[in-house]
Amino acid sequence: MIGIYLSGTGNTKYCLNKLTRALDENSAVYALSLKEEENIVNEIKNNDTIFLAYPTQFSNCPYYIRDFIKRHKDIWKDKKVFCMATMGLFAGDATGCAARLLKKCKAKIIGGVQLKMPDAVCDSKLLKKSVEENRKIILEADKRIKEIANIIKEKNIYPKEGLGFLAHLAGLFGQRLWFYSKTKGYSKKLKINSNCIGCGMCANGCPMNNLKLVEGKMVIFGKCTMCYRCITNCPKKAITLIGKEVIEQCKIENYLPNNE
Ligand SMILES: Cc1cc2nc3c(=O)[nH]c(=O)nc-3n(C[C@H](O)[C@H](O)[C@H](O)COP(=O)(O)O)c2cc1C
Ligand code: SF4
Ligand code: SF4
Repeated sequence: MIGIYLSGTGNTKYCLNKLTRALDENSAVYALSLKEEENIVNEIKNNDTIFLAYPTQFSNCPYYIRDFIKRHKDIWKDKKVFCMATMGLFAGDATGCAARLLKKCKAKIIGGVQLKMPDAVCDSKLLKKSVEENRKIILEADKRIKEIANIIKEKNIYPKEGLGFLAHLAGLFGQRLWFYSKTKGYSKKLKINSNCIGCGMCANGCPMNNLKLVEGKMVIFGKCTMCYRCITNCPKKAITLIGKEVIEQCKIENYLPNNE
């Protein structure tokens, strides 16, 4: 079994690590990025069971996840796949969005889970919580992950959150119909303002190689999968995507005790 994740502010990485370690402490977990794709494709080919995890975006899965599945459609045949989506409030059928694509690629979907975590949208006031509230949300997620791991280990029963017909309707009518344009492709809306000091930190962490430092200036290539990693890590809060200014850099480390 292996885990593969896309994670901007760290929530999905955190949850996937907890679940896979609880199930098998030797399991390997890989961050999906264009740079690592070839390696990850090989890992998928060499393993039977894949835990695929990503943040919910407008009750959908991020475009890069869908693009990755489709570009490598032949590697999924007969793989057992568990889909995990983290969310700020309402996921609808975020797991189902990847699961349906994977089924078309002949994967067997063994289950899905949608976990509430702190909100990742750094440039919006919506859904923002205090540090204490976010800590509680993470503790709840920890508890659920433990319960899920126990049921899987003891009874071989996997949750099926987001995979059924009702969840499909909830995701579709709750959000996707109205916001589909936001996730139908890579975003070209990322902006960098004049506070940028050209440190290049944003480029280093981008899973899409969407940013490059050229002669001291950042260039944006229009292939953003809206993960918010650059936005949450920029020391000058110079990057925005959905909103106009950075309200809070939402990385999970801000809400964890020091030793996690
Ligand atoms: C562009 C964008 C869209 C989002 N849409 C939703 C949504 O529809 N429903 C929801 O509950 N959370 C939504 N969120 C919140 C994230 O899914 C949530 O914070 C997630 O845990 C972030 O995971 P990460 O830290 O691994 O990137 C959205 C976040 C982003 C960046
Ligand atoms: S991390 Fe921020 S300051 Fe550094 S290059 Fe990127 S946008 Fe500029
Ligand atoms: S440009 Fe920023 S938000 Fe977009 S994919 Fe790269 S790191 Fe994520």
